[in-house]
Amino acid sequence: MTSDISIITYSHEETCLFGEFLGEIVPKGTVLTLDGDLGSGKTTLVQGLAKGLGVSDKYYITSPTYTLIHEYTGRCRFFHVDLYRLTNPLELDELGFEEIISGESVVAIEWPDKLPQNYLATCLSIKIDTMDENIRKITIISCGLENKDLVGEIGKKIKERKWH
Ligand SMILES: Nc1ncnc2c1ncn2[C@@H]1O[C@H](COP(=O)(O)OP(=O)(O)OP(=O)(O)O)[C@@H](O)[C@H]1O
Ligand SMILES: [Mg+2]
Repeated sequence: MTSDISIITYSHEETCLFGEFLGEIVPKGTVLTLDGDLGSGKTTLVQGLAKGLGVSDKYYITSPTYTLIHEYTGRCRFFHVDLYRLTNPLELDELGFEEIISGESVVAIEWPDKLPQNYLATCLSIKIDTMDENIRKITIISCGLENKDLVGEIGKKIKERKWH
């Protein structure tokens, strides 16, 4: 059984780099959920993720707080979703959310707890804990069978790269 993976980052840049590392590894169709308090570093990680997915750095990644979804193109389509302001799950239908998460795109979702329970069949769950002003604990958990191998692979590469 694959166990969860945790790493510690000591700066904004390091969380960005970790996101980039994930962006290089995740296959098309991966849905990543990002849990963590306000200001924990979810968007920071997504900025790196976009870079790792090959999104041009002429795009500055900011949270789609009001529009809920931003779309980019890298080695595949990439959707950055921020559900903080989602008040009614019916809005998801208007946004075509079901189609977005079931396609070949990579999707990163901030505030996934706003989704109805069991909405996502499978995802790579990332939890960010603020340990201190600049210190974050990032935990990766496989959610659904399909992502088990991916978590194992990420763990192996983390060891190779000697992340903390
Ligand atoms: N190790 C670290 N990793 C990530 N961010 C860090 C770290 N140390 C300090 N920071 C700072 O924490 C803040 C993280 O902000 P960010 O917008 O990424 O958080 P967020 O979780 O997306 O917030 P929100 O819930 O408002 O969307 C930034 O100001 C960043 O510089
Ligand atoms: Mg954010």
